[in-house]
Amino acid sequence: MRLVDSHAHLDFGQFDADRTAVIDRARDAGLVAVLNVGTDLASSRAAVALAEQYDFIYAAVGVHPHDAKTVTPAVLDALRSLARHPKVVAIGEIGLDYYRDRSPRPVQRRAFADQLALASELTLPVVVHSRDAHDDVLTALKGWNGAGVFHSYAAGPGRLEEVLALGFYVGVSGPVTFPNAEALRAAARQAPPERLLVETDCPFLTPVPHRGQRNEPAYVQYVAQAIARARGEHIEMVAEATTRNACRLFGIESL
Ligand code: NI
Repeated sequence: MRLVDSHAHLDFGQFDADRTAVIDRARDAGLVAVLNVGTDLASSRAAVALAEQYDFIYAAVGVHPHDAKTVTPAVLDALRSLARHPKVVAIGEIGLDYYRDRSPRPVQRRAFADQLALASELTLPVVVHSRDAHDDVLTALKGWNGAGVFHSYAAGPGRLEEVLALGFYVGVSGPVTFPNAEALRAAARQAPPERLLVETDCPFLTPVPHRGQRNEPAYVQYVAQAIARARGEHIEMVAEATTRNACRLFGIESL
């Protein structure tokens, strides 16, 4: 069974003590690709460095809405240079987060728009973070021409049509395994198979049965399993479809 973890943060400090072992376990678990997603300029650089070190790790570069206030013209230039690296397959994670509001909302919207423009310029897809900001995220994307994924989709089945109408993919993560996540399972059930991606968002959002511990790419199998159960399909079908989808979206050569 081949799986792609479409959203990981292996550069984070939580993996400093045993990063190599975590990456070995990912390979052993059948992962054929891991997209390591940057959250600021430093972590984008670290993502590219990891992608240089491991053939099956790819990088996304970008600044998370929490750090939107760091997005200066100089930072955009640095991201532009990084993004020319052959292992950089997306701009992200970018978007809006009105739940934590760690950067002022107008600043978040500006940083999102600037990075969407960068993705257009480079013809790269985007990895979108949208938390309690779905209306503004959709507005920004409606005026933009490109592909991408709503990472760790949490807006329920009610907003699915709008996401699909934009041509975007739906990234499903660990919470789909939680007992109270019926809305998320409904979304995973309703999404067309050719638009689903699986992800861990590790070290966060650890799926059952490891909930409460640190998350890692090998656990993406539990996400695929929960989707398969929700859809009444075999896990191999979900693994095959989501792997094909990730390769298509991120332009990763057929694995
Ligand atoms: Ni993330």
